[in-house]
Amino acid sequence: MSYIRSAAFEETGYVVLDRYDQAADPQEWLDLEYVDWKSSGVTRFAPLASAFGEMECNGFWNHTPPRTDKDGVWVQANVDRAPILKARAEEPGANIGRCRVIELQPNSYANALYNLHQDDNNRLNPDGTGWIVRGFFNLSDDAESFMILRENRFDPDTEVRIALPAGAQLIVDTQRFWHAVWHKGPEPRYCLITSWTSGPELDAYIEKYHGNPHNVNAPLDAKIIEEGQAEVRQRLAERAAALAAKGRHDDGFGEDPEA
Ligand SMILES: [Fe+2]
Repeated sequence: MSYIRSAAFEETGYVVLDRYDQAADPQEWLDLEYVDWKSSGVTRFAPLASAFGEMECNGFWNHTPPRTDKDGVWVQANVDRAPILKARAEEPGANIGRCRVIELQPNSYANALYNLHQDDNNRLNPDGTGWIVRGFFNLSDDAESFMILRENRFDPDTEVRIALPAGAQLIVDTQRFWHAVWHKGPEPRYCLITSWTSGPELDAYIEKYHGNPHNVNAPLDAKIIEEGQAEVRQRLAERAAALAAKGRHDDGFGEDPEA
């Protein structure tokens, strides 16, 4: 047995969909209730769907009974305030797990590299069922900010930088990629993140909106990349040393960040 996956992800592991006309919608994300959620970078989250419909953001596998990132339950207080965001998450017709709006404060390229992580969407996902991927709908207009994807965490040559203007829509196999957002600011970035189960419904949605697996990177100065690489190496070494001094092993993954 193996997981059901979208052919659209086979080559690169991500697709960029047609841009959505975000400016035509009300800014529902400003009306939501946000909760603090432990994450790298300065973030808050507004859950639209959670494990049991509570106003919280924990992975479904951390609940009792633990389960994979499917069958999220709508958080009534927030979906009442964001009917359009809920409808957009539902449009593919694919099973929805976690669904939330992230609020991310500005950071640096080096900080984003430090935050690179792989998601754990498919923990406890039964073999033979749909592989869970995640949709990112940028809500605020952050054309100079980028979703950074790396196949290899420490190799800048594998880096993909997808620009995040208002209405940018990406779907990413976030368990495959190391990913984080470089948000230049100055205002916070808001993005709807939805866990979807791969299958014919998601395939049709990707086709309808012309999912493109080939992003063209905006140029980035080699000096910025090298400085970012060096800063991350230094921060990780410092972190490992601090943990070793306390007699703890460093798994190198830090906290549980979200993009
Ligand atoms: Fe993530």
